[in-house]
Amino acid sequence: ERCVVAVDGPSGSGKSTVSRRLATAIDGIYLDTGAMYRAITWAVLQSGADLSDVDTVVKIAMETDLSIGTDPQAPHFEANGVDVDAAIRGPEVTGAVSAVAAIPQVRAMLVQFQQDIISGAPRIVVEGRDIASVVAPNADLKVYLTASAAARAQRRSAEDATDVVATEADLARRDQLDSSRAADPLRQASDATTLDTTGMGIDEVVTQLLSMLNS
Ligand code: CDP
Repeated sequence: ERCVVAVDGPSGSGKSTVSRRLATAIDGIYLDTGAMYRAITWAVLQSGADLSDVDTVVKIAMETDLSIGTDPQAPHFEANGVDVDAAIRGPEVTGAVSAVAAIPQVRAMLVQFQQDIISGAPRIVVEGRDIASVVAPNADLKVYLTASAAARAQRRSAEDATDVVATEADLARRDQLDSSRAADPLRQASDATTLDTTGMGIDEVVTQLLSMLNS
């Protein structure tokens, strides 16, 4: 039986960990759409293009050969044949990704790519910002994970060993950029179930989502 799960939410909401665990639990694959925007951003930075030169950024994005890993245990990404798993989590990419992700042609290209992957997969958990609203509006389960700003910063800085105050500021900056664009495609789908994970453990969240899927 086909099963598509859409997991949206801001940075540090626990999306990635929860989505990978859920994908494993349903014996499905996992698609990290944020990593796709990050990999394109890596290629743009690598090219030396000026981020404000939209035409050039779009051209580079179109020409980038992306290899997208969907194994929930070890999702591995390559851009133009280069392993980018570490680089896409670095500060340069994190600082530039929201600007690249705001370009409509970049989004259109990646959304198409994401939909192709989803239609070829019997069971899949897809995480991002616009999955329930744009990428997979017919998903079997749509969840919007949130957590308090402090909890989100805490989780993210524990993950990458950065300063919690600086991380909270960076998350606030990206949340603002990600939600303030015109015709915001990242707005929460009205039919998604919101789960505030502040103070919840990973197991607890995964268990809740599994029971929602089975009900
Ligand atoms: O680090 P974090 O979990 O916040 O982000 P991510 O999921 O890796 O996504 C990085 C950035 O990509 C976000 O801040 C958005 O600007 C963009 N993004 C997007 O526009 N649409 C998506 N479906 C996923 C990510």
